[in-house]
Parts: sequence; C-alpha cells; structure tokens
Amino acid sequence: MSIRNTKTRGKKIEAKVTKRIREIEPNTIESEQKKDELQRAYNNLKERFKQMTTELQVSLESLRNEITERERAEKALSEKSMYLNNILSSATEYAIATTDLDFRITYYNPMSEKIHGHKAEDVIGKTVMEIHTKEKVAPERFDQAVENVRRYGEHLYTVEKESEEGTHYIDTRISGIYDSKGELVGFANFAKDVTLQRKVDENIKKSGERYRRMTKQLLTIQDQERERISRDIHDSLGQYLATFAVQNGLIRKRLIDVNPALVKDIDEMNELLLEAIEECHRLSFELSPPALKELGLVQVLREVISGFKQRTGININFTETLAGKRLAPDKELALFRIQQEAFSNIMKHASASKIDIKLYRDKGNIHFNIVDNGQGFDTSELNQISRTGDKSVHGIGLLSMRERVRNCNGVFTIESKSGKETRIDVIIPEE
Ligand SMILES: Nc1ncnc2c1ncn2[C@@H]1O[C@H](COP(=O)(O)OP(=O)(O)OP(=O)(O)O)[C@@H](O)[C@H]1O
Ligand SMILES: [Mg+2]
Repeated sequence: MSIRNTKTRGKKIEAKVTKRIREIEPNTIESEQKKDELQRAYNNLKERFKQMTTELQVSLESLRNEITERERAEKALSEKSMYLNNILSSATEYAIATTDLDFRITYYNPMSEKIHGHKAEDVIGKTVMEIHTKEKVAPERFDQAVENVRRYGEHLYTVEKESEEGTHYIDTRISGIYDSKGELVGFANFAKDVTLQRKVDENIKKSGERYRRMTKQLLTIQDQERERISRDIHDSLGQYLATFAVQNGLIRKRLIDVNPALVKDIDEMNELLLEAIEECHRLSFELSPPALKELGLVQVLREVISGFKQRTGININFTETLAGKRLAPDKELALFRIQQEAFSNIMKHASASKIDIKLYRDKGNIHFNIVDNGQGFDTSELNQISRTGDKSVHGIGLLSMRERVRNCNGVFTIESKSGKETRIDVIIPEE
C-alpha cells in the first residue's frame, strides 16, 4: 500500500468518525461517554496510522536500497564477464573452449577457431562428439577424460593433426568447471599448437648430442696427443739428454788430469743435465703415465701425489678403499685426468695448504672426492658460463672434467665457498 493511499484512507475514517459524533451528540444521554470512547478510538487509529506510515517509509527505503544494490551488482557482473571475455578472446596462444557436462560447447574463443578450424557460431550448442564425427573419437576417451578430471583435476593429451604443411602437434588440457557448492558443472579445454616448440626442442636435443659426440672425440684426441708427446719426450728428448750425460762423463774422464778446473764446470753441467732428465720423466709421466695401464689408478695416484707434495709443500691426505680391484681402463684414465686438472686448478687458483682425496666404492658406484682448503670461488659464475656458453671468461678444465664423467655415465659436482674451500665430487658406476 502506498503512503498516499494510506493517508487518504486515514482522512476518510477521520471524517466519518467526526460525522458520527455529530449525529449522536444531541440524542443520547450516554453520548458523553460514547464520545469519549469514540475519541479514544479515533486517537488509537490515528496513532496506528502514524506507525503504519513510518513502517511503510522504512520498508520503502530498504526496497529502494536493495534495488540500487542489485543494479550495481548486475553492472559489476556484466563488466566482469566482459573483461573475462576480452581476456579469453585475446588469448593468442591458447585455444580456450568450455562445455557443459555432456560436452556441449558453451564458449569458443577466436584462437579455437584458428587451431581447431571451426567457426564459433557453428559449434556453440553442439556437442564435441558431433563436431568430431570425422575424427571418430572413441567414447571411452571421453569417459577417461571425465574420470581424470574428477580424480586428478585435469586430463592431458596431444592431438596430431595432419595438414598440407605436415603434422601439427596440439597439446591439450581439460580441467573442471565447478559451481559455488564445488559441484562439477562443465569442462574447460585449453589447447596449444606446440609444433614449433617441438621442432626447437628436437634441434636442441640433436645439437646437444652433436656437442657431446664432439667433446668425446676431442677428449680422445687430447689423450692420444698427450700420449704421443709423452712418448716423444721420453724416447727422444729424454734419450738425447741421457746420451749427452754419458758423453759428458767421458769428457770429464779425459779432462780430469789435463784440466781439473774444467771438470768442476762439467760436474755442474751434469747436475743440470740430471735435473733436466728427471723433469723429462716427470713431464712424460704426467702427460700419459705408462704405469696407469700396468700399475693401475691407485698406484699412479700415490706416485703423483707424493711428487706434488714434494714440489708444492701442500699437505695431502689420500684414502682409498678399492681393495686392489682395478677399474675399467677408460674409467681409470678419466679419474686420473680429473685428479690432474683438479691439482692444476689448486695450483693456479686456490692457494691451498691442504687437500683431502678419497676414492671409495659404495652401492655399485665409485666415488672420487677432492677437497681443497683454498680461497674458493663463486660457482654461480660457472652456471652463467654454461647458460650463455661464454667460455672466454674461464678455461675449459672444469668443462672437460664434467664431460669425462658424463662419458662414463656418471655425475660430476663442484661446490665452492668463497674464502673457504672447493669440493669436487665424482660418482661413476663401477661396471
Ligand atoms: N680449486 C679451485 N679453487 C679456486 N678456484 C677454482 C678452483 N677450481 C676452479 N676454480 C675457478 O674456476 C674457474 C674455471 O676453472 P677451469 O679449470 O675450468 O679453468 P681455468 O683453470 O681457468 O683454465 P684451464 O683449466 O683451461 O687452464 C677458474 O678460472 C677458477 O676461477
Ligand atoms: Mg683449470
């Protein structure tokens, strides 16, 4: 009831009551009493009318507020759905479509038209099965998709699509759409053409394999070359120096009575010659120790370590628990080269006073650790090098260690704390 109607009705009642009072006033004796009664009734009515008017005004106000609020919410909702629609429509990589539980299409963005080759107006309202009549998708695949979405929240698959340009690969993900109570009410389908990405991945994989093959060949060539130089130094330069020393001895004998002063010079020369011969042996041994094949890794390591200790004064602890068992020649050579490069790095970069080396077997693997207490370095620079491939900043020592371990199907790690230590861990399968 409107306020105006209520007011008019009130006024009518008031006129009626006044008229009635006037009618009965002169006639009856009880008129005074009745007049009072009527006056009271009139007052009550007036009060009630006032109350009703106020109540009505309050509910009218709240109704007005409700309407404004609803209008605002509807506007916000429509803006939101427009916003969402814009986002989905402008998705340039993903084909996005939604369906109800029967796979009836409810939304189809422009990218879907491009990737799947249907117009939105032709597919909206139709089921996916109707659209894919040509492809003849087996019904079990839909059941499987629903089960996966219910169980794992998603269903993933790749579609291979033949076209004039060749095969296209489309990675697809189906996820659930839920209502406010969490009930599954439909499906959202996200599809992306990954043909180009696959080609790039394949090329990266192929160039990675090529790079690995090349470094393996390079390391083999490097080993052969070292072996050749080692032989040359030992057999040629070493032999010449030895002959020279013998000749010197003969000259010394002849001069001993004739020119004793010259003998002293010859003795000094001989000492230098012996040092040069020793240096030749060391060089030849380090370049390619023939003993590695005969004596094995542990023995050779012992010899190299003891020579290194003498030359540098660095304290070295070497422990091994291989119990005399030899490793495959390629693994022994790899570990020997790793030790050499590690020692060379310690000499060049570490300023260390102590090195701990451990060689042991654990669960079918051979572990080789080399830890120095030198100044360490920032290993994040190495990650940068491997990411950018820029080796101009550093050398190739660590890289070749890593490759040698990879060629043995092992794992190579290097950890370092600036100002503290550098730790190399190598794990290779024993067999
Ligand atoms: N034990 C170590 N202590 C401190 N820094 C090290 C150690 N080993 C390696 N480094 C750091 O890592 C870098 C890379 O080492 P890597 O052996 O690859 O190259 P390099 O020794 O500089 O050159 P190359 O080995 O080719 O002669 C070094 O330049 C050095 O900064
Ligand atoms: Mg190095």
